[in-house]
Amino acid sequence: MSNKPLKIGLVGAGHRGILYTRYAAKHSDKVKIWAIADPNDYRRNQVAKEFNIPSENVFSDADALAKSNVELDAVINGTMDQYHIQTTLPLLERGWDVLLEKPICTNEQDLNTLYEAANKNQCKVMVCHVLRYAPFYVAVKKLLLDGEIGDILTINTEENVSYHHIAVAFIRGRWRNKDICGSPILMAKCCHDLDLITWFMSGVAPSKVASFGSLMHFKPEKAPEGSGKRCLVDCKIERECPYSAYNNYIEKGLWGPYAWESVEHHGDALTEEIKIESLKQDNPYGRCVWHCDNNVVDHQTVIIEFENGVTATHTLTGATSKPSRTVHIIGTKGEIEGNMSDGTLVLRKPDLKIEYTEKIIDIDVKGDGHGGGDARLTDDFISVMSGEQPSISTTSLEDSLYGHMIGFEADRAMNESTIAKIPEFMKKRGNNE
Ligand SMILES: NC(=O)c1ccc[n+]([C@@H]2O[C@H](COP(=O)([O-])OP(=O)(O)OC[C@H]3O[C@@H](n4cnc5c(N)ncnc54)[C@H](O)[C@@H]3O)[C@@H](O)[C@H]2O)c1
Repeated sequence: MSNKPLKIGLVGAGHRGILYTRYAAKHSDKVKIWAIADPNDYRRNQVAKEFNIPSENVFSDADALAKSNVELDAVINGTMDQYHIQTTLPLLERGWDVLLEKPICTNEQDLNTLYEAANKNQCKVMVCHVLRYAPFYVAVKKLLLDGEIGDILTINTEENVSYHHIAVAFIRGRWRNKDICGSPILMAKCCHDLDLITWFMSGVAPSKVASFGSLMHFKPEKAPEGSGKRCLVDCKIERECPYSAYNNYIEKGLWGPYAWESVEHHGDALTEEIKIESLKQDNPYGRCVWHCDNNVVDHQTVIIEFENGVTATHTLTGATSKPSRTVHIIGTKGEIEGNMSDGTLVLRKPDLKIEYTEKIIDIDVKGDGHGGGDARLTDDFISVMSGEQPSISTTSLEDSLYGHMIGFEADRAMNESTIAKIPEFMKKRGNNE
């Protein structure tokens, strides 16, 4: 282990990349933010300025960075889903370890290609499965490892995406259309949940997957009477609509980094007037949710069978009033049930006198993004890159394969009305802890 600070590069100066970079930069004794690559001039220059990056270490894309003479210890890749492979392969070829945003990629072939490139170049690819670090899910994993509920029989999880969140990300926003972003909503939103399920299964391979879902609500034929094409232009029900762009992004101030992306170049000079005008003009976030070019489903259920017979389900529902993630794991000796947004877990066991006992475990979920997962993941990345012992949450490429395979196969199963089988060679590649 060297005492010199790690030299870290950032590829993709977007919302996620900057967030991890800021967390990493807090460890100024251990880390130096040493290079930036992004085709967006405004973002690239902002990052170079914020982290004092030498001008010779500033690049317009991942390829140029990989071909340069810059020396790095690792790279944070925060590009969008459809660019993960093309931006990561050159970094691996250069011999750099990578912290890669999820989903790893958008299809099985690319997963294979990346796996082989990482092995060939003997590089680590750590995947940003931030929920593995959230204290809520760490507590669940510890209860399982301690044998509190015996052998798992079933796992049921839910992700309830709130009405304003589904609108900003999956109807108006960048994950709305799988032909553009490459990811269906299951991979973009729930690859975390599918990853958690496989993490709870501690290396048992999934074998079969089925799935059902559709886009039921956010399409033109469901538009309510009086709605228009843009909230602030031709909508008669804007003042009573929960999806009103004005209400969500101006009055409630939600989702600023997405909603104001098209006007972010105004920097400190960005005013409310400019924002409102953009919603009236060409800002995609000013569109009516029933008149967008979205094609991802708004609800989907996935059913999984594992090699040892355990079954699991995950249900994604968009447009809920309250955002939440729930988990219910039933084992031979007890069960664990919880709701991440409430920060409560219940450990329930049969009892000879009363029917069952319940131990309530309260978890502080007030922390930063993803129940405190974002900051902890960055800390772990720095530890792993410094040669320290990985934590129980560390997600290598091998650890992430099963969850991603379930996601890819679930969409195939849903689209083809079939039951999909996980390919044998992929089962062998996964990490059998
Ligand atoms: N871990 C999580 O929970 C979580 C949450 C939200 C989003 N994400 C994922 O994070 C990723 C980034 O999302 P975002 O909202 O920050 O995206 P973003 O669009 O804000 O940022 C991506 C940046 O990559 C840059 N870029 C594009 N091509 C490039 C290239 N060839 N070389 C270098 N830079 C390039 C773009 O100019 C942009 O600035 C996505 O894959 C997304 O799905 C993960």
